[in-house]
Amino acid sequence: MLEIRDLDVRYGGITALRGLSIDVRQGETVLLVGANGAGKSSTINAVIGLVRPARGAIRLDGRDIAAVPCERRARLGIGYSPEGRRVFPSMTVRENVLSGAFGMGRRHQRRALDWLVSVFPFLGERASQPAGQLSGGQQQLVAIARAMCSQPRLLLLDEPFLGLAPIWVRQISEAIREMQRRGTTILMAEQMARPALKLATRGYVMRGGEVRREGTVAEIRDSALAEEYL
Ligand SMILES: Nc1ncnc2c1ncn2[C@@H]1O[C@H](COP(=O)(O)OP(=O)(O)OP(=O)(O)O)[C@@H](O)[C@H]1O
Ligand SMILES: [Mg+2]
Repeated sequence: MLEIRDLDVRYGGITALRGLSIDVRQGETVLLVGANGAGKSSTINAVIGLVRPARGAIRLDGRDIAAVPCERRARLGIGYSPEGRRVFPSMTVRENVLSGAFGMGRRHQRRALDWLVSVFPFLGERASQPAGQLSGGQQQLVAIARAMCSQPRLLLLDEPFLGLAPIWVRQISEAIREMQRRGTTILMAEQMARPALKLATRGYVMRGGEVRREGTVAEIRDSALAEEYL
């Protein structure tokens, strides 16, 4: 479904990714794991179109999406939850979640919101509260619900577990499992390898902008856990 080939990303003189190749097949949950600065966010941001690669190809269903602007990639079925639980702090929880389905029509929005509230009742209980007043774990769940709201075919999650207490790690794992049950393909970047390995089918261990190891969860587990403590 997603093919990344020989991707280079540079920021001025800094090379963030060097010759990166990654595949995500339909229905898989693929994990990008690696320490700070490994290039996980640069990879995700290149797929959603927030950074422009210096070289290489990104294909969705065989189509090169390099020239597709960021805002149109959502309409291709890509959902995105950014690193650092970025919610709109002064907007309500409901408005934050619905912003993920912007431009998709009221019927779709209402159905998506009903579904999300049934999966995560706290979204209903806090619907009218400004998102900036929530705890870190709650904000992360709002950010993921926003990404789920458009019911994407490919969901990109950048560090969904970072800095969260175990209770929120469990809730967010449940959200990710719900997307898996719906057949969503997922590409997830995470430093916290332990909970992420429980959800993934395959993964890539990154360091210094390159893939160091790839394989099934069983094949990469040891090397992923070693990177976690770098
Ligand atoms: N906007 C930017 N300007 C300059 N350098 C950047 C920028 N964003 C990232 N980098 C650099 O690119 C490299 C890869 O960073 P990236 O954010 O992709 O890594 P990461 O694996 O997501 O790290 P983290 O775990 O800290 O989120 C790092 O050396 C980083 O300092
Ligand atoms: Mg990052």
